[in-house]
Amino acid sequence: MARENLRFPPGFLWGAATAAYQIEGAARDDGRTPSIWDTFSHTPGKVLGGDTGDVAVDHYHRWRDDVRLMAGLGLTSYRFSVSWPRVQPTGRGPAVQRGLDFYRRLVDELLAHGIQPMVTLYHWDLPQELEDAFPSGSAAGGGWPERDTAYRFAEYAGIVGEALGDRVEMWSTLNEPWCSAFLGYGSGVHAPGRTDPVAALRAAHHLNLAHGLGAQALREQLPARARIGVSLNPSAVRPLTASAGDLDARRRIDALANRVFTGPMLRGTYDDDLIADTARLTDWSFVQDDDLRITRHPLDFLGINYYAPAVVSAATEDAAAGPRKDGHGASEHSPWPGADEHVSFHRAPGELTAMDWPVDPTGLTDLLLEYTAQAPEVPLYVTENGAAYDDKPGEDGQVHDPDRVRYLHSHIAAVHHAILAGADVRGYFLWSLLDNFEWAYGYSKRFGAVHVDYETQARTPKSSAHWYAKVAASGELPREYVAD
Ligand code: FCB
Repeated sequence: MARENLRFPPGFLWGAATAAYQIEGAARDDGRTPSIWDTFSHTPGKVLGGDTGDVAVDHYHRWRDDVRLMAGLGLTSYRFSVSWPRVQPTGRGPAVQRGLDFYRRLVDELLAHGIQPMVTLYHWDLPQELEDAFPSGSAAGGGWPERDTAYRFAEYAGIVGEALGDRVEMWSTLNEPWCSAFLGYGSGVHAPGRTDPVAALRAAHHLNLAHGLGAQALREQLPARARIGVSLNPSAVRPLTASAGDLDARRRIDALANRVFTGPMLRGTYDDDLIADTARLTDWSFVQDDDLRITRHPLDFLGINYYAPAVVSAATEDAAAGPRKDGHGASEHSPWPGADEHVSFHRAPGELTAMDWPVDPTGLTDLLLEYTAQAPEVPLYVTENGAAYDDKPGEDGQVHDPDRVRYLHSHIAAVHHAILAGADVRGYFLWSLLDNFEWAYGYSKRFGAVHVDYETQARTPKSSAHWYAKVAASGELPREYVAD
């Protein structure tokens, strides 16, 4: 007997996601100035192969074709980020209209094709001037460890809100603040590449503050129908065994990966165990009166980015030896302030993608149900999910990527599972629309549903794109994965 397909709720959004620095290129056009990622990628040894986002996939010039491509795939939504240094080159003061015009045109083109935009204000490209700024009396060294950056972000949020507020309904303040704080200032595998655990914790707080202040600034500009949220990358963190030591390791990483953001944003608090675990490093006096009221700005939605689960145990003997690989690059420095002597990471079971990330869709269901339990009134979106594989055009000129189809199938099924179990999930955004600049891995990792030939910039939808188009058109997922 044929088994029915999995049906998604009416109005469920089928989208794809990108980020400005990863696709736009045109790094010097129309008054754009360097962001921390321009500086970092131009620093020898920081990005594999010396790759930079100078040209990327030239979306700044090819946006019209890229929108046509999305429309051809039947996407009903597109999540992209605005480049802060394109809009406000010094990170303060008046906006550059040419920069804003690019996003106005992009949004108009999307709407003309019936594609709902979701704007992310910050996907990691801090104007370099803000990283270099040392406001008087500050020991923080600029960037996110410096409190003033949160106020600069709010000003920028207001500018973009004013420019696009009449036509964009879905807004996300920050993308994955965990990466900005702990990879950018802790392990240093992301820009700006600093390796100071206290700076990483300060950065986390100022990102929380930026989220709250940015949401307030947006609210002042946007019509009531606009929805304001954030995209986090919570860790689906699992203990290796049920031993007390392994459970404590899980608690520590849950605090540093998840609750450091969801505490302030959902509950207006930093949990006592997080403060205690990091007490040797800081007294958290950078959290000022009233900050935790601001960070708790009501969320209209919560975006969850998910790729793979993490498995932790109490520290094993060899925990301190050798460079750490945290899935985003290798570093001698840890992205887990205060946890290193207590926690070891283990490879989760499952096949590996080209990132060496295990394939395990149950982590996505778990997270969606976890946040349903924590914040039942807040609708959820999967704002990123996808996989890198070593895709190449075949002799027929087509790009066959059955591994990605399998990955997407199992993860979209995991979303359905969560919906059946009571999660209010309103949409799914595949990472990524196009192959692009994968941060410290440069162009070596391909996440796109659409293949990009980096010599010619030719776009070729992979078989996963055609498969996803069918899911988007029908709003249904075949119950079983069937290879082409
Ligand atoms: C996420 C980032 C996104 C992309 C994917 C693979 O952490 O938000 O830009 O690089 O990982």
